Amino acid sequence: MKPRVLVTRHVYPAAISILQEHCVVDYLDRREVPTEEELKRRLRLAQGVVCQLTDPMTRAVIEAAPELRCISQVAVGHDNIDVAAATERGVVVTNTPGVLTEATADLTFALLLACARRLPESERFLRDGRWQRWDVDLLCGGDVHGQTIGVVGFGRIGQAVARRARGFGMRVLYASRTRRDEALERELQAIHVPLDALLRESDFVSLHVPLGDDTRHLIGVEQLCTMKRSAFLLNTSRGPVVDERALVAALEEGLIRGCGLDVFEDEPRVPQALLELPNCVLLPHVGSAVTSVRSLMCSLAASDCAAVCNGEAPKHPVNPEVLD
Ligand code: DGY
Repeated sequence: MKPRVLVTRHVYPAAISILQEHCVVDYLDRREVPTEEELKRRLRLAQGVVCQLTDPMTRAVIEAAPELRCISQVAVGHDNIDVAAATERGVVVTNTPGVLTEATADLTFALLLACARRLPESERFLRDGRWQRWDVDLLCGGDVHGQTIGVVGFGRIGQAVARRARGFGMRVLYASRTRRDEALERELQAIHVPLDALLRESDFVSLHVPLGDDTRHLIGVEQLCTMKRSAFLLNTSRGPVVDERALVAALEEGLIRGCGLDVFEDEPRVPQALLELPNCVLLPHVGSAVTSVRSLMCSLAASDCAAVCNGEAPKHPVNPEVLD
């Protein structure tokens, strides 16, 4: 008998074709986010689930799914999944690393440039009909070339951001738990420093850490006070890595110059205070939102889910110890 797989929300069609070849698919082809209760109900008989970062894959949900063998996330981040609970029950969790690296690094750079050169503000100015003439000081921003970027978290995406920064003639600092090998540091001309030194010296601080207990509110009052008053904070990782209240206060008090955010603490809620501040560039979690990339993410998750449900090894396990 073919294994049963739940697809919790709308995905690109190729993913469904992959799954249908090997599994019986219960496809919730809709935009709505499933609740814990619905997931518990729908997963009662399922061996696999293809889920998204919006879905509460909690311990309670996992424990209510006795047949479950695989949770495949259509994203690289998987903080919505209780991986410990899955591991305890022998459930493989998979994600989609690699394919979204360049797209997310591009978007980070788009945010950096938008902040430095005041792009949204300039566009609003023009659309509002306020552009009367060219003025020597009209909407002047800051330099990018020659500035220092501090990359926090130096995995695939952090490194891809550093590569772009070198192309823009920037100095690159990075902070990460483990120092990278010399060859990589040399290639990227990236200097490993402690986080507080990075915060003190950087003109742009860009966050690329996964969300976990050790990174929740990694950037709070103390860290924002350490940053230069002229610096920008960029976040394309996960919202809760930044203490949003502290950030709003820092922006209101002028402790930092501005921020570029693609992620928020309680998505899709964006604090009114951020919406009202002109020195913030705000995006709706579109870091990897390139059609080819998102389609590939769906297909990768589907392939891994089908593989595990049919007794094969997945390509991108998050908890490989379950496979031993
Ligand atoms: C991820 O993959 O974790 C992003 O946030 C969505 O692409």
